[in-house]
Amino acid sequence: MRAQRSNPASALTGLLRCARNDEIESGIPAQRSQSRMTSPASRLAAAKWFMGLNDCNNVEDFRELARRRLPYPVFNYIDGAADDEITKDRNTAAFEECDLVPDVLAGVDSIDMSTTVMGRKIAMPLFLSPTALQRIFHWHGERGVARAAEKFGTYFGISSLSTVSIEEIGRMVSSPKLFQLYIHKDKGLNHALVEACKAAKFDAIALTVDTIVSGNRERCKQTGFTTPPKITPATFVAYATKPAWALNFLFRERFSLPNLESHVSAGSSEPISIQNYFNSQLDPAMDWKTAEQVRAQWGGEFCLKGIMSVADAKRAVDIGATAIMVSNHGGRQLDGSRAPFDHLAEICDAVGDKLDVICDGGVRRGSHVLKALSVGAKAVSGGRLYLYALAAAGQPGVERTLGNLRDEIERGMKLMGV
Ligand code: FNR
Ligand code: LAC
Repeated sequence: MRAQRSNPASALTGLLRCARNDEIESGIPAQRSQSRMTSPASRLAAAKWFMGLNDCNNVEDFRELARRRLPYPVFNYIDGAADDEITKDRNTAAFEECDLVPDVLAGVDSIDMSTTVMGRKIAMPLFLSPTALQRIFHWHGERGVARAAEKFGTYFGISSLSTVSIEEIGRMVSSPKLFQLYIHKDKGLNHALVEACKAAKFDAIALTVDTIVSGNRERCKQTGFTTPPKITPATFVAYATKPAWALNFLFRERFSLPNLESHVSAGSSEPISIQNYFNSQLDPAMDWKTAEQVRAQWGGEFCLKGIMSVADAKRAVDIGATAIMVSNHGGRQLDGSRAPFDHLAEICDAVGDKLDVICDGGVRRGSHVLKALSVGAKAVSGGRLYLYALAAAGQPGVERTLGNLRDEIERGMKLMGV
């Protein structure tokens, strides 16, 4: 297919052909090698005695650098998932079941990978999912992530459990920003959070719908991870042996969850595990009526994060959502849940023409983004793909990983002939 000189990413859908394993031209499903979680180059990097920012050429390299630089309770909070972590691994392995089929001799010399999602144009079809507690991972925290996302012209999201306030983020960057809402038992808090987003001129609210109770976070049980981190005789060594992290955490800005602490002390001044925070503070009675009320109060771009079934995707349309993140929370909630990419085509076929479908989870390579677009996603998002980099090297780390991923997307599009 002749490539035009500039193809908005929205034109990508349909220009990329993703022959899934059972649909390859020969009709004979390829025998997949055991899914490989690390590239040979990453194994080389991990073998290095000393690693630095410039040794990180992909997400896996940043994961290794984060593992070296973080106290193990903090690293395992990011890296961990629910139960046996089968879903977390499947989220990434699912992309290996799909083959890209390039069109060659397309003469592609420039690429426009921009697209419009949740009402804002973004420079690449990849954005940063909302994730909690970022100043525990690195003192740059959400400030560093916001500035990096702004530099790359893409959306980022802050969590309800953000360590930087809605107001400050609103003042800091003019690039597209999303607030992720957890519905708390405290209804006054829920109302205040939505009003704060209006005042701070956020572009979208994503209501997370897959955390009605917490997933079983066994690594956190083993390591004793809490927010804020609790130094006990059992964890003292873990934190003391990472002096750079410890000095930054202890002597820079006081840790808190500024969007919540006026209503909830747990998580800011009272250490609590995420599992216990969810089960004590979030409202298990949350239902479609709750979602509709939030949409009505907000009145802007409204995304449901954590949709996995076609039926729920259709109900999201019915209540007036303008986007859905097809997501299983990075495998951190219901282990055994289907991978977003495995279910993406059905959902895109059902509602892709009525709202923005975003594929969230398991993305570690630019080719994963291309595969998700090829089955109809409007854009792709991820958490660990930038969190390892944040934890390893702050804002420069996030900028490098976004640069790596953008280059991978562009290279892949050119090789695909789009
Ligand atoms: C998350 N995620 C998440 N989601 C959410 O709605 N609110 C939150 O506060 C958080 N916090 C959070 C912390 C950490 C450490 C991780 C790894 C994840 C889930 C996140 O938004 C996203 O759905 C997943 O991270 C996607 O999977 P990948 O990209 O990490 O594989
Ligand atoms: C997590 C919560 C904070 O996944 O969303 O850890």
